[in-house]
Amino acid sequence: MADKIRVLITEEELTAKIREIAEQIKKDYEGHTLQLVCILKGSVFFACDLAKMLDMDVRLDFMTVSSYGGGTESTGAVKIKKDLDHHIEGKHVLIVEDIIDSGNTLSALVPMLKLRNPASIEVATLLDKPSRRVKRNVEVKYTCFTIPDEFVVGYGLDYDQKYRNLPYIGVVELDG
Ligand code: IMP
Ligand code: MG
Repeated sequence: MADKIRVLITEEELTAKIREIAEQIKKDYEGHTLQLVCILKGSVFFACDLAKMLDMDVRLDFMTVSSYGGGTESTGAVKIKKDLDHHIEGKHVLIVEDIIDSGNTLSALVPMLKLRNPASIEVATLLDKPSRRVKRNVEVKYTCFTIPDEFVVGYGLDYDQKYRNLPYIGVVELDG
């Protein structure tokens, strides 16, 4: 049977909040070129919508890291599966994440990218689940929504690769 999805954040709420964050980013990076690093696949909708709202010099690059198996729990280990296509040395880098959960992914990724000597490196996340944090050393400059400890899908986020295409954020209410 199909899972039930309860809407947590509507499409309108997503758009309004991302526009707000985009305004802040434009101010903060005024006069600079901004290198967005989209973490595939979950961040792709957020990164694209955000990029469209940034009327400034923006470059887009993508990387795939893995910290999860097929389920809903982080394994703690982080591996680069697809690296960036472009150098980030001397660039202003903004990592675009879908959700920060345990913090394992970013607490490994940010130091790895810092070794490449960017001019600056910050994080923008669509969602934050602070109650689940295991790693405390993760600094996030832009957070769109803080959510409770529930497994969410939609707007890029998946449950076993399903539901990424939902235009809103929802909670899967598993059958059975
Ligand atoms: P962390 O390493 O535990 O912070 O997890 C980060 C990654 O886990 C995110 O980028 C997501 O891909 C995935 N993730 C964590 N929580 C959820 C969720 O509620 N729904 C879907 N994916 C999640
Ligand atoms: Mg992710």
